[in-house]
Amino acid sequence: MNLKKYLDREFENGLRSLGALDAPAVVKQASKPAFGHYQANGVMGAAKKRKSNPRELAQSLLDLIEGSKELTGVAEYEIAGPGFINITLTPAFIQTELDRNAQDPRLGIPLETARKILIDYSSPNLAKEMHIGHLRSTAIGDANVRILEFLGHEVVRANHVGDWGAQFGSLLAYMDKLEQTGEALATELKDLEVFYQKASELFKTDEKFAARARQFVVRLQSGDAKCLDLWERFIKESIRHCQAIYDLLDISLTADDVRAESAYNDVLASTIEKLEAKGLVEISDGAKCVFMDEFTGKDDKPLPAIVQKSDGGYPYMATDLAAAEYRGHTLRVDEALYFVDGRQSLHLSQLYAIASAAGFIQENQVFSHIPFGTILNKEGKPFKTRDGGAVKLADVGDEAIERALKLVSDKNPDLTEEDRNHIARVVGIGAIKYAELSKNRTTDYIFNWDTMLSFEGNTAPYLQYAYTRIMSIFRRAGLNSGDINGPFNLREPDEIALATRLLQYPEAVESVVEDYQANILCNYLFDLSQHFMTFYESCPVLKADDEMRDSRLRLCDLSAKTLKHGLGLLGIQTVEHM
Ligand code: ARG
Repeated sequence: MNLKKYLDREFENGLRSLGALDAPAVVKQASKPAFGHYQANGVMGAAKKRKSNPRELAQSLLDLIEGSKELTGVAEYEIAGPGFINITLTPAFIQTELDRNAQDPRLGIPLETARKILIDYSSPNLAKEMHIGHLRSTAIGDANVRILEFLGHEVVRANHVGDWGAQFGSLLAYMDKLEQTGEALATELKDLEVFYQKASELFKTDEKFAARARQFVVRLQSGDAKCLDLWERFIKESIRHCQAIYDLLDISLTADDVRAESAYNDVLASTIEKLEAKGLVEISDGAKCVFMDEFTGKDDKPLPAIVQKSDGGYPYMATDLAAAEYRGHTLRVDEALYFVDGRQSLHLSQLYAIASAAGFIQENQVFSHIPFGTILNKEGKPFKTRDGGAVKLADVGDEAIERALKLVSDKNPDLTEEDRNHIARVVGIGAIKYAELSKNRTTDYIFNWDTMLSFEGNTAPYLQYAYTRIMSIFRRAGLNSGDINGPFNLREPDEIALATRLLQYPEAVESVVEDYQANILCNYLFDLSQHFMTFYESCPVLKADDEMRDSRLRLCDLSAKTLKHGLGLLGIQTVEHM
């Protein structure tokens, strides 16, 4: 059960009876909660609106709900500060609910009413190798995909890769050149980055090559067979390369999830015709444009969205409109969420407005942009290689594993090499993904190897290590998870605190998808581990007498399960020892 929602209901009903319900969700976790504490602060909002004294309103509310508190599982309500109500749950309630969650393979998280939700994420342009900037959309999108799926939704993963357009001209011209000169194209394609560099170098320095490159763009768009063949080979190689990165980073995307820009080529003309039929298109500087009242630039001038260029070519917007229609009409999604860099917010707002005006998106369908900030270096500048180039995502993954290997070897030199390599992979990849996920997605963040790989603080290694410590308790006891079944018996403040945290797991998971902020789950797991450590320091587990020992072992077991499950929802693995 979602504890917050459960308590909300109680308060909502109370406030409704008092005719004072203005703020819908009135309960929130106290920011610095003592154990078992929830805090209702919506009372203050409600009081403000009716211009009454919040403490008095709180008191009337308590007079109303005091009588039923035992039924609710509340030990005590206490008015605090300017009008908060602190809520302390009874150990009996905590024990019963905890027992229910512990026996539930879903750890107490109910299925939601299923909706069809498309997540557009990762979506790199294939004319370049994936770089660190792609980490955000890829990692954050994937965590949300996993969570929504777990909550019972029908999720469509959409990798809207950019595989079409002018930038392919020089790549195709270069492929053609290699073939003509008999140089081994296949070998060159093995290192895509070098391949891109050579092609763009030629484009800049060799006039003839540049002219051929431009020709190739035209040939590609007119469906020239030879050109399409080269292009297909290139795209296949490039997608294979992306897939290798997804596999390395444990991203749940597969080749089946790719629906590239080129997949819409055949319908682009009719997409634009539909806009024209709706009277949405105007010609401006020879290009077909859509002007929408809500988009104005400097001097309040209307801002155009170009849907067909003056040379007849179709820009990014045209493909996106076709994709929106496909998602709205053919897939009939309830929601389409675009996990895309914040810098594309104008493009996407224009897209949704035009697609709605054209009837591609129905009123009951929600299309929204889930934006995020930029990854910065320690100096607060966009993250680049030393020579100013883009940092390859493949290199980031490899470096993470390499650094983790060193840490793991220092920490435990007795492990076998195979073990060490496996742990290094799980810890290294977990660290970079967690660094991403644990930040508020809308802000820029600084990429820092040392903090993300630290075993202290809010990091994947800390959580993964906490998990292994619990596993070692079971190993020492010669027990497996699930061997212990006795009742929970919570006595010490630290075990009640831990138990309450454990009860909050469903709430943490459900809160993530309210605004697609995975950091809520990260913060929860971090807080849970800290409470576990405190509990473990103050409450003996294996040395306690039988009844307490079993109850505490079950607390350990559920803590481990919750950590593993929560990290799993974030796309991060655990190991049994390290
Ligand atoms: N390929 C684009 C880029 O790399 C991102 C695509 C996002 N999805 C979309 N439907 N526009 O910038």
